[in-house]
Amino acid sequence: MQSSGENHQFASDNTAGICPEVLAALEEANHAAAESYGTDQWTSRVRGLVRDLFETDCDAYLVFNGTAANALALAQLCQPFHSVVCHDHAHIQTDECGAPEFFTRGSKLLLVRGDAGKIDINEVDAVIARQPDVHAHKPRVISITQATEFGTLYNRDEIGAIAELARKREMFLHMDGARFANAIASLGCSPKEITWKIGVDVLCFGGTKNGAAAGELVIFFKKELSQEFDYRLKQAGQLASKTRFLAAQWLGLLQNDVWLRNAKRANAMAGKLAERLRAAAKIEIMLPVEANALFVRLSEHLTHDLNSRRWLFYKFIEPDVYRLMCSWATTETEIDQFVGDILR
Ligand SMILES: Cc1ncc(COP(=O)(O)O)c(C=O)c1O
Repeated sequence: MQSSGENHQFASDNTAGICPEVLAALEEANHAAAESYGTDQWTSRVRGLVRDLFETDCDAYLVFNGTAANALALAQLCQPFHSVVCHDHAHIQTDECGAPEFFTRGSKLLLVRGDAGKIDINEVDAVIARQPDVHAHKPRVISITQATEFGTLYNRDEIGAIAELARKREMFLHMDGARFANAIASLGCSPKEITWKIGVDVLCFGGTKNGAAAGELVIFFKKELSQEFDYRLKQAGQLASKTRFLAAQWLGLLQNDVWLRNAKRANAMAGKLAERLRAAAKIEIMLPVEANALFVRLSEHLTHDLNSRRWLFYKFIEPDVYRLMCSWATTETEIDQFVGDILR
């Protein structure tokens, strides 16, 4: 156990600080005066890098956080009488305080189940079929989370099949990519392969959990879908006047593939933690560890003991399954200390 008196965080990947490259990019942007409200050179450079990364001509916007990214992206796709199909554990359902419903001014989330945080495509099809006419909200969007809230991944074929269904039903496919970087790092594919090439229309690409202080990208792969999105952002209070500081952070992440390196590290730490917990501490890992999260079964007594040693993490599934989340900043020393405290 460290003697610094600090908390030891496996609570979330947003408890980590700002990674050095992002900090350096902020420092670099903090010299002369610059244009504001997105007309600055940092924002246009980020847009260029996003187009390069996704190898397509797309429209990218910066917002402060993931809730705004998701809610405003969905509002852009939906009329108030539309609905969004998502997993019943999707962040847009469980953790956004109704922001998607609020910003769409009346749209509804249609919830489906599915193993390990992934929507069951048959349930999606069935729930869409149950909204046959004008008396029900019209299904407009399927929303998936990549990596999922349970630390698992949709593979390319699974996304392709969902996109195919969306196309068949004349719906859009939205991807909550708060941990998109972790998904790419784990799948080892290029970003286009699991997005626009197989039918994802809008991606919310998370920077905060990847090493930024704040700032997510909303990326429209069909430019006609982003019409007047700048007005929507402004009205929602999501157009930063000093946009360059959101953009500079993304320059820090996108240049030299820092985003990918950070995600690979977080994933590797999660893999290592899982391995150590399984082998040394005989802790049960409840779900496949495919990105940077682990779901583990812990007794109340052990949890209490670890919390009293300042290890922080949360229960995710009743009665006794907890989430341990690694980040770009997680160290092997922390993992050793955590396992050591379990074995005491
Ligand atoms: C799957 C997912 N989506 C989106 C978000 C973004 O949320 P926030 O508004 O806290 O940045 C999070 C953060 O926990 C998340 O886990």
